[in-house]
Amino acid sequence: MSARWPLLPPRAHSIRHRLILALDVETIAEAEELVELLHDAVGAFKIGKQLFLHAGPEVVRMVHRHGAEVFLDLKFHDIPHTVARAGVEAARLGVRFFDVHASGSFEMMARTNAEVLRACRREGLRRPKILAVTVLTSLGTGDLRRVGVADGVESQVARLARLAHRAGMAGVVASPLEIGRIRRECGRGFLIVTPGVRPARGAHDDQKRVLTASEAMRAGADYLVIGRPIREAPDPRAMVQQIVADMAHGFLAARTRPAAR
Ligand code: C5P
Repeated sequence: MSARWPLLPPRAHSIRHRLILALDVETIAEAEELVELLHDAVGAFKIGKQLFLHAGPEVVRMVHRHGAEVFLDLKFHDIPHTVARAGVEAARLGVRFFDVHASGSFEMMARTNAEVLRACRREGLRRPKILAVTVLTSLGTGDLRRVGVADGVESQVARLARLAHRAGMAGVVASPLEIGRIRRECGRGFLIVTPGVRPARGAHDDQKRVLTASEAMRAGADYLVIGRPIREAPDPRAMVQQIVADMAHGFLAARTRPAAR
């Protein structure tokens, strides 16, 4: 944490772009307060189902008005045509990232990727990075078995990550404990976006399988999604600075000692 590492390493200034704040709040007013406070301190804001259903696309425009980026976390899973059309709408909203379920099929992901690319070229839109959710962290081996998946969680995560990679997804959303395996399976260019991260000395809330921000970066995460530890901190900006410092040291450690991964 910053108390132990008062000096930031080189490139730490860009590390903040790798921190995504989860805007898990009920109203657009609460969301805007956080965006006003932190738009220049984090890389993007994640908007999930609750806030999007409450506020609609206006909440995405609000974040953009503050000059910040959006990860639209609606986890699409439907027939390929429907997900592809939803993906095109996400691109039209100008989001930086959106996500789909990898278990929705190779075709669902590949078609979404192709149609989004086509729409972006045709309409001059920026191309969003499409992420795939592998196995939700709320699922265990027993849950997978009940839906006909005999393999353990890690094998299923690896299988779905490979499928997402082949289908042209930019990366995956994954638990911090799966980063190493995905990195080995899918290589360096494939983005790994990781929730379930906690500051070194913070509370874990209901996240059970957690790593610290430094450990997650060191393991090879590209982006961290963090919500409550920042939103509920007495001074959210100070907490962001502390987390970014922690991330920077993990990032540097991974690059100076890659064999330690
Ligand atoms: O508050 P907290 O830091 O736990 O927020 C993490 C965010 O990441 C929440 O929006 C949560 O829904 C999301 N998330 C997660 N675990 C996953 C996928 C998403 O915690 N496997």
